[in-house]
Amino acid sequence: MPRRHAALLGIAVILVAVPAVDGSAYASPSGSRVARLVAQMTLDEKVSMLHGGTDPKVLGQSGYVPGVPRLGIPELRLTDGAGGIRMVTPATALPSPDALASAFDPSLARKYGAVIGRDGRALGLDVLLGPTLNTIRVPYNGRNFETFSEDPLVTARTVAADVAGIQSQGMIATAKHYAANNQETARDTVNVNIGEQELHEIELPGFQAAVDAGVGAVMCAYNQVNGAPSCGNDELLNTVLREQWHFAGWVMSDWGATHTTDAITKGLDQEMPSGDHFGDALKKAVQDGTIPMSDVDRSVTRILTQLDRFGLLGSHPRPRPTRDPAGGAAVARTVAEQGAVLLRNAGNTLPLRGRDANSIAVIGPTAKTPKVSGDGSGKGHPEHADAPIDVIRSRAGRHASVTYSPGGDLFGQPIPAQAFDPKLPSSADGTVSLPLYTGYTGTINLPTDGDYRVSASVADDSLVALYVDDRSVIGGAFGFGPAELPLHLSKGPHQLGVYPLLGPSPMPVKLGWVTPAATATLIDQAVAAAARAQTAVVFAYDDETEGLDRPSLSLAGYQDDLISRVAKANPNTVVVLNTGSAITMPWLHDVRSVLDMWYPGQEGAAATTALLFGDAAPGGRLSQTFPASESATPVAGDPARYPGVNGQENYGEGIDVGYRWYDAHRVTPLFPFGFGLTYTSFEYSDLDVRQHGSGLDVSLRVRNVGSRTGSAVPQVYIGPSAYVHEPQAVRSLAGYDKVTLRPGQSQRVHIRVDVAQLRSWSTATHEWTLGRGPRSVFVGSSSADLPLRDTVNLR
Ligand code: BGC
Repeated sequence: MPRRHAALLGIAVILVAVPAVDGSAYASPSGSRVARLVAQMTLDEKVSMLHGGTDPKVLGQSGYVPGVPRLGIPELRLTDGAGGIRMVTPATALPSPDALASAFDPSLARKYGAVIGRDGRALGLDVLLGPTLNTIRVPYNGRNFETFSEDPLVTARTVAADVAGIQSQGMIATAKHYAANNQETARDTVNVNIGEQELHEIELPGFQAAVDAGVGAVMCAYNQVNGAPSCGNDELLNTVLREQWHFAGWVMSDWGATHTTDAITKGLDQEMPSGDHFGDALKKAVQDGTIPMSDVDRSVTRILTQLDRFGLLGSHPRPRPTRDPAGGAAVARTVAEQGAVLLRNAGNTLPLRGRDANSIAVIGPTAKTPKVSGDGSGKGHPEHADAPIDVIRSRAGRHASVTYSPGGDLFGQPIPAQAFDPKLPSSADGTVSLPLYTGYTGTINLPTDGDYRVSASVADDSLVALYVDDRSVIGGAFGFGPAELPLHLSKGPHQLGVYPLLGPSPMPVKLGWVTPAATATLIDQAVAAAARAQTAVVFAYDDETEGLDRPSLSLAGYQDDLISRVAKANPNTVVVLNTGSAITMPWLHDVRSVLDMWYPGQEGAAATTALLFGDAAPGGRLSQTFPASESATPVAGDPARYPGVNGQENYGEGIDVGYRWYDAHRVTPLFPFGFGLTYTSFEYSDLDVRQHGSGLDVSLRVRNVGSRTGSAVPQVYIGPSAYVHEPQAVRSLAGYDKVTLRPGQSQRVHIRVDVAQLRSWSTATHEWTLGRGPRSVFVGSSSADLPLRDTVNLR
C-alpha cells in the first residue's frame, strides 16, 4: 500500500492572483547561479534538499522539502494527481490517464497536462508526482487506469504532450515509476527480469520521450530491475538516464523505495518522503568519507538547476496563477468524450433516439454515485461530480420516462450485532468504535452460502485494514473509498479483522455487508424495471486501485449476472463501463451496445449523457487489448510472467507485449488494440508510402461514409526487416493521426513515421539499428483491421 504521511484535513490556501505565465520566460537555467548557491550551502542545508520532511502547513499533498530560506531556495510541495491534483482542496478531476491515451490525440494530452499544472501551481504546489507511464503489460495491474498504453509509441506521444502541458504552467513534472513497475502484487520486493531489447523497445520509450520533453524529475520504482533496486540501479539511473539520454533533472525515490545511503552513488538524488537514508546517515557518510561531497553537490545541483529553470529561486519567484475551474471542466468533458470507446453498437442502437430515448430504465449503483476515478495516490478530490441518472433525466426531458434501479449496493447495510463473536457494539448505521492498531479480531457468522461484500468506511483522514479469512484490503485514507471485500463465502463463522491504521483512537468505522439475499432482491428489482422500459442502460464498474491487482478480469461482484439478466428481460440493453482497463464480457452478445467511459472524471455524467443521446460522438480507440478470456492473455498460464515466482517476475513474452503477443500467437482478442466504433463509418483508400528523410511519409484518403460527423484514427503499422537478427513484432504501430470529418467529407491524411519506429535495439551492439530492406506497411483502423498494404525498401 502507499506509504504516505498522515493524510490531513484542510486549511484554505491563500493565493496570489496572477495571470497564467508561459514557461519559456523561465527556460534558461543559469549554471553559475546554481553553482554559487551550492558553494554557499552548509552540509546540513545540502542534505535537507536530498530528502523529504514534514510540511508545517496542512494541505494534504504527498511530499514536502523545506528549502533553504536564507538563500532564497523555496519550500517544495510535491503532490500526486494522475487525473487531477490530489490534496485537501478540490481540483479539476479529469478522466483517467488511459482514457486520455485512448483519445489518440497529443494536442488533448497537452491541454490535460496544462489543467493539472495550473491547478497545482494555483493551489500552492510545485512538483507533480506524475505522469505514470509504465507499460500496460499485465491486464490485472491495479494501476493500469493511471497509465497510458500497452504500446510504446502511444505512451511516448501522450506523455511528451502531457509533460509539456504540465510544465507550461510552471509545475515540475515527474515521470514515474522508473522502471518496469507493471504490477502491484509484491511491488515493494519483486525483481523484474527484463531483457535488454524489451526494456529499450517496450518499457523505456515513454520515459525517454518524457526526458526529451524536458521533464524535471524522474521517480524510481519500488520493484527491482534485473537484480538491483530501481532506486539504486546504476544501469537504469546512470547509464541509461544520464549517459544515454542526457537527463538533466533529478531522480527521487518512490515513497519508501530508498534502501541504502550509497544509492546516491548509483544515481538516486532524493529520498522521499523522509530521510532514513539520505538524512543523518548521509551526513555522517560524507563526514566519515564514505560518500564523497561531490556526489551530494551533484544531486543538489540537479535539483537547484530545475528550480532555477522553473523560476522558483530567489526573491522574486515565478508568480502563481489562479485556478480556471471552467476551463478545467471543459477539458475534462472533451477528454471524456474523445477518450470514450464505443465497443459494440448492434443495430446502431446508440445514439438513443425516438422511442428508445423516451423510455429508459437506468440501472447500476454508479449511475447514482458517480465513479470518478480509480483509487490510491492517483485519486484526486473532485470539485463536483453529477450523478449520471440526474443528467440523463434532464436530457431525456419531462415527457420521457426515466426510472432508476440500483441493481447493486456499493456501501452495504449495517451488519447485525449478533453476527459478531465476540460482540461488537454498533450504532444504528453500523458504526463501531475501535482502538487504533488493535482494532477488532473475531468472527463474523454468515447466514447463507454465496457472494458477500463486506465493507469498512472511515473518515477522509483515516485509514483502516479489513480482513476476512486470509483476504485483506486496506482503504479509507484521504481520497480512498471504503475498504471492501467481494467474497464467495460459505454459511457459518469466518475470521474477521478490522484494524484502524491511521487517524483518531478510538476510530469510528462503519461496517456494512451486502448479503446474497440483498443482491438477489436488487437484481430482481432491476430486471423488473428493465422489462418495463424500451431501453435499459446498465452502468457497470470495477475498482482498480494502487496497492492491489485485480483478482480477475471480471466485473466486480454480481455485475455479470445483473447484466445478463437485464439483457434477457430487455433486448435493447446498453452497457456503460466505468472500468479502469480491460475486462471480460461474458454477456457481450446479449447486449446491443457497450460504451467504455473508463473512469471519466468529474464531467463523466455530462459526457456519458451527451454520447448516449448523440450530442457528441465517441472519439476513443483502445490503447490496450481486451482479451477474450483470462486464459488468452500474454501472461496467462505462466506464473513467472505474472504474478511472479519466488519473488521473480519475468518479461517472458519478450517484446511481444500487448497486441504484439496476440499477433505473434494468432490469438483473437475480444477487442483489439486501436479498435473503437463511433456513430459513423469511414473508408480508407489510396495509400501512398514514400521515404522522407530517414523516416516515411505515409498518406491515405479517409472518407466519412456515414451520416454523422465523427473522428477517424488511421493507424500505420510496420512489419519486420529481414536484416535484423533480434526478435521482431509481426507488426508495430509506427504512426497515427486523428481526423474529424462531416458526412460525405473526405481528406488526404499524411502520417509521418519517424525513423525511431523503424529501428530495433541490438543486444550485440547495445544500440538502435535501422531495420533495412523491404518493410511491409499496413494501414487501417485497428491492429486487427488493416486493409491497406504496401512495401517500402528502406536504405
Ligand atoms: C506511489 C507513488 C506516489 C507516492 C506518493 C507511492 O505509494 O507508488 O506513485 O507518487 O506514493 O503518494
